[in-house]
Amino acid sequence: AGRIRFNAAPMGWSSWNRYGGEVNQSLVKAIADAMVSNGMKDAGYQYVNIDDGWMKGRDAHGNIQADPRKFPDGMKALADYIHAKGLKLGIYLANYTVTCIGRGGGGVLYTGSLGHEAEDVRTVTSWGVDLIKYDDCDGTAGSFDAIRNALDSFARDSGKTVYLDIPYVTRLDQFIHTPDSWAAMDIGDSARIASDVRATWASIRHNIDIARVLAPAYVEPGFVIDMDSLEIGNGSLTPAEAQTHMSIWAMMSAPLIAGNDLTLDNGALGLLTNREVIAIDQDPLHFAASEIALRPGPQGDTHVLAKPLSRTGSRAVALLNEGDIEARIKVKFADLGLAKSPASVRDVWAHKDLGVFSSSYEATVAPHGTSLLVIQGQEPALSGSVRLGALRWAY
Ligand code: DGJ
Repeated sequence: AGRIRFNAAPMGWSSWNRYGGEVNQSLVKAIADAMVSNGMKDAGYQYVNIDDGWMKGRDAHGNIQADPRKFPDGMKALADYIHAKGLKLGIYLANYTVTCIGRGGGGVLYTGSLGHEAEDVRTVTSWGVDLIKYDDCDGTAGSFDAIRNALDSFARDSGKTVYLDIPYVTRLDQFIHTPDSWAAMDIGDSARIASDVRATWASIRHNIDIARVLAPAYVEPGFVIDMDSLEIGNGSLTPAEAQTHMSIWAMMSAPLIAGNDLTLDNGALGLLTNREVIAIDQDPLHFAASEIALRPGPQGDTHVLAKPLSRTGSRAVALLNEGDIEARIKVKFADLGLAKSPASVRDVWAHKDLGVFSSSYEATVAPHGTSLLVIQGQEPALSGSVRLGALRWAY
C-alpha cells in the first residue's frame, strides 16, 4: 500500500538470453556503450540488466559479492559507469540458497538470497541498482514478501523506487491467480507468465498464447505481465516471426528487454527501435490487447488483437497469423468500440498511412507474421463501457 507504481513497462537489455551465466564487466560496459551509440537509448531503452551468474559467495560480513574475476572494479563502479551514460542498472537475485545456475550444478558460490533478503537489498541498493529481478529457484513464497518489504523500507528511507520483476511461480500458492486477482500484482511491478523464452517460433507463439489469455485480466496502470526478454537478433526467427515477437509484446504493454548482442547490427536494431511500435508498448493509457477475433485455420489460427490508445478514437490493432501459410485477416471497425464512421488505417511498421476505410480493413499476412496497425476513428458519443473480450474498455 502506498507503493509508487511505474507508469509504463521497462525498456532495456538483459544478459540472460544471449550470454547465460557468462556475464562480466567488459560485456556490460560494451552493451551500455552500444545502447548510447546505436540509437537504443534514444528510442527509450534504459535498463542494463545483469542476470544470473554475477555473484560469488558472501564476504566476511555476510554481504553478497560480485565475482571479482568477472567484475574486477566491483558493482558500484559499474553502476556509476552506467548512470553516467544516463542508463539504469538492473540486477538478478534469487529466492533460494543458490541461484538457478547454482542449483543446476553451478555450485554454492552462485549465492541466493533466501534468508538474506533485507541485507541483499541493502547491498545492491547501496551500489545504486534501479531494478531487481527476483528469480524463483525453489525457495519459498515468503522470500518474495521479504524482498517487497525490504524495497518498501528502502523507498521510505531513500525516496527511491526500485523496479521489481518477479518470475513465473504458479506453483507457489501465493501467486496462483484467480479471474480477479493475482497476488503477484501486490509484490512485483511485473511478473513473468511463462517459462524461459527461446529464439524459436514455438516459444514466441507459446508466450503470445498465454498473454492473450492473461494480459487483459491483469495488466493495469502500475502492473504489466512480463512476456520475458526479446529474442530478436538471437537466432533462427524469420523476419515475420521477429516482427510478430516485437508487435505482440508491444500490444500487451509488456517490458521490452532486448536479449541480443547489441554491439552487432544484424538487422535487430531496426526492429527494436521502431518508434511507432515502441509508442504502442509505452502508451500512457496502459491497456493490454484483447482478442476481438479468432479464426481457426488448418495450419494455425489467425487472431485480431486490439487495444485503445491514449489518443481519442485511436486503437492499436494486430492482425496476427499463427498459421504456417499466408492468410487474409480482417478487422471490423465495429469490433473496436468506435463510433460508426469511417476510420483511417496506418501501417505501423512501414510508417505509412493506408487510407480511409468505411467499415473494415483486411490484409494479407505472412506465415507467423503480424500486420500492426493504428486505426483512427471516433469514440462513441455516449459514455459508458464497452466489453471486448475479457477487457472492459471504460470511457
Ligand atoms: C530462470 C529465469 O526464468 C531466467 O530468465 C533466468 O533468470 C534464469 N533463471 C537464470 O538462472
